[in-house]
Amino acid sequence: SVEQTLSIIKPDGVQKNLIGEIYSRFEKAGLRIVAAKMMHLSKEQAGEFYAVHKERPFFNDLVNYMTSGPVMVQALEGELAVNVNRDLMGATNPADADDGTIRSDFADSIEENIVHGSDAVETAAAEIRFFFGSDGICPRTR
Ligand code: CMP
Repeated sequence: SVEQTLSIIKPDGVQKNLIGEIYSRFEKAGLRIVAAKMMHLSKEQAGEFYAVHKERPFFNDLVNYMTSGPVMVQALEGELAVNVNRDLMGATNPADADDGTIRSDFADSIEENIVHGSDAVETAAAEIRFFFGSDGICPRTR
């Protein structure tokens, strides 16, 4: 079924000038960009977005990294978009990511891993709402 998912090109991906390369991978995989914006997250925004990780040992580093430069945030739409995007990204740790995935090709470490993608349809809806509100997207299929 057609789904939407939330994608972030993280500060290292923007710094490495990979926005077009990554957008091209989305499009070639049949995903449509239905909302997008570049923004420099505040610590408050990054902490709220990653609130589920608040108790993890890497939380402070994660907030510092995610606020270290601008990010590119997009909502993607397409058949099974959540898993199509996860397959394009590869495993969280680039050392474990399959060849040809975004993280295998470009990421330096488990933290600086270039992209974020929603892990399920339910979290995707919440993450899209977090960045774009309830009517900030331009869906093509309904
Ligand atoms: P992401 O998929 O955006 O979700 C949480 C982020 O925390 C993850 O990508 C990484 O950028 C970062 N991170 C840092 N260390 C770890 C770790 N040990 N396990 C999972 N995520 C980590």
